[in-house]
Amino acid sequence: MTYLAKNIMKVQPAATIAVTNRAMELQAEGRDIISLGMGQPDFDTPDHIKEAAVKAIWDGETSYPPVPGTPAARQAVKDKFKRFNGLDYDIDQVMVSAGGKQVIYNALVATLNPGDEVLLPAPYWVSYPDMVTALGGVNKAIPTTLENNFKMMPEDLEAAISDKTKWLIFNVPSNPTGAAYTRAELEALAAVLERHPHVLVLSDEIYEHITYGDFKFTSMASISPAMYERTLTMSGVGKAYAMTGWRIGYAGGPKELIKTMIKVQSQATSGACSIAQAATVAALNGPLDIVEERVREFEARRDMVVSMLNQAKGLSCPTPEGAFYVYPNCADLIGKKRPDTGAVIANDEDFVTYLLEGEGVAVVHGAAFGLSPNFRISYAASRQQLEDACQRIQRACAALID
Ligand SMILES: Cc1ncc(COP(=O)(O)O)c(C=O)c1O
Repeated sequence: MTYLAKNIMKVQPAATIAVTNRAMELQAEGRDIISLGMGQPDFDTPDHIKEAAVKAIWDGETSYPPVPGTPAARQAVKDKFKRFNGLDYDIDQVMVSAGGKQVIYNALVATLNPGDEVLLPAPYWVSYPDMVTALGGVNKAIPTTLENNFKMMPEDLEAAISDKTKWLIFNVPSNPTGAAYTRAELEALAAVLERHPHVLVLSDEIYEHITYGDFKFTSMASISPAMYERTLTMSGVGKAYAMTGWRIGYAGGPKELIKTMIKVQSQATSGACSIAQAATVAALNGPLDIVEERVREFEARRDMVVSMLNQAKGLSCPTPEGAFYVYPNCADLIGKKRPDTGAVIANDEDFVTYLLEGEGVAVVHGAAFGLSPNFRISYAASRQQLEDACQRIQRACAALID
């Protein structure tokens, strides 16, 4: 009999990290591996942000910060919500945490009772279901389709809601598909949610700045007063400002919820690093032009990757509106045989194993995100690497035997 907690025993290590570790092992053995498994920008933190952190160190901003965030960081978050998202939050409706992940964890600890249901449009970010499981909640996936560009349909949301539903957690633009809902699409979902006022909404907007073409990002909480009152809006500086290692996320939402999340945080981490919060103030109050320049680079990569994947035999890949992921479907390859071992490709995990072993391309299988048969490619890598990876994928697909 183990002394470990039952709920934590059900939690899986993140597949994204497992793939990256496997790719690193193969690299260490001397194999030529292109690793497209991890979800972080391949850029550095902009200089003005680093300088703000150095200044904070020399200014002695080195003691415990207030649990909900430094006054300057909270103010910067409040201002950013108003400026970019059109959301009016009071200071006590916003908080800063050690990463977007801690925001979500705080929210779930603050609200979940055993048996509470959490709705997750699938494919979903890998960590949501595991956090829910760890806290005794019940995950309910709402499958989406390639035909609907992986977006949840209002009728499917309606059908999934029960008396036990506590949260809908969704992510716009999405990790792993890059799909992003337009204002009209959010309004249609809000119309369903407004009929079920007991359902809270966690809107994970961590990729909000990374959108392409004419797409205009909209926050769920800005759709209507009813949505504002029960939506927790989460974001962070990691993805937009290439600051994943600084570990800063933040949230805005209903007062009582934020107050309880602060209570949770006070007993977990006592809040986020003071130096990283000073850097966040510089990021949020600073110009967006460097972010926009990087987004244009991501867009060029997206166009190249989508085009090359759609030329691969048996793959089909919609064009996402944002983030830096694509989620191609590989249904036409299931049942074929590997040319090297003769093994049958029975599912998307077999396919990504084949890509890694056969061609040295590390990507993550769709089952990890709750929708198969697909796989996720992160195009936060150089164009050279991406072109090489896509050529290898094309070669791998063409070599499969009927
Ligand atoms: C959808 C989504 N939400 C939240 C996070 C967590 O962000 P952070 O690194 O700020 O904890 C990630 C990071 O991969 C993500 O992809």
